[in-house]
Amino acid sequence: MDNPLDDDEFGHIFASADRVPGWLTRDQARVLHDEARRLGPDAIVVEIGSHQGRSTTVLAAALRSGTVVAVDPFITTRRYAGPSVRVQLERHLSDRGLSHRVDVVADYSRAVRERWSEPIDLLFVDGKHDMGSCIDDLRWRSHLRPGDRVLVHDAFSSLGVTLGLLVAALPSRDLIFLDRTGSLARFEIGPPSPRSRLLLIGQTGWWVRNLFIKVLLRLRLHRIARLIGHDQPGADPY
Ligand SMILES: C[S@@+](CC[C@H](N)C(=O)[O-])C[C@H]1O[C@@H](n2cnc3c(N)ncnc32)[C@H](O)[C@@H]1O
Repeated sequence: MDNPLDDDEFGHIFASADRVPGWLTRDQARVLHDEARRLGPDAIVVEIGSHQGRSTTVLAAALRSGTVVAVDPFITTRRYAGPSVRVQLERHLSDRGLSHRVDVVADYSRAVRERWSEPIDLLFVDGKHDMGSCIDDLRWRSHLRPGDRVLVHDAFSSLGVTLGLLVAALPSRDLIFLDRTGSLARFEIGPPSPRSRLLLIGQTGWWVRNLFIKVLLRLRLHRIARLIGHDQPGADPY
C-alpha cells in the first residue's frame, strides 16, 4: 500500500512540476517519482530529453540524494525552441531549489554515452523519437545493474519509439517489460520470461489505438478522438 505521507509529498512535487510545460501526465510523474524515490544514496539518474524540465523536476525532487544527469542538445526544430529551452530548464530548476541535484549536459545522448564510464541507477528515455535514436538510447542500459529500471516515454505512441522497442527490447536478453502507464513503459534489467515478452507484444493494441487517434487529430476530428478517450488537448497521445 502507498504511504499517505508519500502521497502528500508527491502531490506537492507534481503541483510544482505541473507548472512546467511538457509532456508527462500525473500518473506518469508518479512512476518517475516512485522509481527515483526507491534509489539508494548518491544515486545517478540519466534522463535523455529534458526539454523545459517537467520530468527533470519530478526526478530531482524525488531523489533522496544524488544527481539527475539531464542530457539534451537543445536543438532548434519545428517543435523545439533551441538554446532558450535550456535557459527555461535552468530557471525551472532554480525556482524549485533543485539546481544542485541536476547536472545539465547540453549534448546528444550518443555523444554523452560514448564518453560515459560510471554505473548509473535509473535510465529515463524521452529524447529523439526515431527508431535509431531509441535503439541507441537503450544502449545506456549497459551502465545499469540487474534489478535496475529503464523508463521509456512515448512507448507505443510514437512510431519510431515503438519500432525501437520491438527491435531492441523484444529480442533482448536483459530487458524485462513490467508495465506501462499511458505511453510510459517500465522495464527491469534481467532475463525476460516468455510471459514478459508476450506482455510487450500485447501493447501493440494500445499502439494501434494511438495511431488511430493521431489520424483523427490530423483530420481535425478532435471530438471523435475525445469520444474514444483522448483527453490530452492539443497533443498526440502520450
Ligand atoms: C519530448 S521532449 C522531452 C520532454 C521532457 N522529458 C518533459 O517531461 O517535458 C524531447 C527532448 O529530447 C531532446 N532531444 C532530441 N534529440 C536528442 C538527442 N539525440 N539526445 C538527447 N535529447 C535529445 C529534444 O531537444 C527535446 O527537448
